[in-house]
Amino acid sequence: ENERTLAIVKPDGIFGNHTASIRNIILQSGFTIQTQTTLLQLDQDTVATFYADHSTKTFFPSLIKYMTRYGPVLIMVLEKVNAIADWRTLIGPTDARNAKITHPNSIRAMCGEDLERNCVHGSDSHHSAAREISFFFPHIFPEGTMTLK
Ligand code: CMP
Repeated sequence: ENERTLAIVKPDGIFGNHTASIRNIILQSGFTIQTQTTLLQLDQDTVATFYADHSTKTFFPSLIKYMTRYGPVLIMVLEKVNAIADWRTLIGPTDARNAKITHPNSIRAMCGEDLERNCVHGSDSHHSAAREISFFFPHIFPEGTMTLK
């Protein structure tokens, strides 16, 4: 069944000029890009709300800095059969350092650096995908919109 998932090229991915390679991998892997933002400078409130699930974690303040201080991101909605799990497989483990060892062909192995600077995001479940897509694209994909604040 066709699914949609949310992909983000994080500031380190943009700054390292990885956007074109990432887009090529996406298209060669059979995803269609349903919609995408232009380069988008996120503010702290937006990131804090997007990552609300992590608000109690020790790394939360650092995550907000990382996602806002180093420049813009690029956000895409990807569609294909099994998009959510397949995009997670393509990006590889959260810790890019591990990815380089265990999943050398993954996107995070190619462009990430460590546990925080892992260059891309992918929704981790159907529930997250619905929430994340409607969070950034409420007019295009209003279904599943949740009240976040
Ligand atoms: P992602 O899985 O896209 O969403 C949560 C992000 O928080 C994650 O990518 C990393 O960028 C960051 N992150 C996750 N775990 C840690 C951690 N233990 N320390 C620092 N950053 C983390």
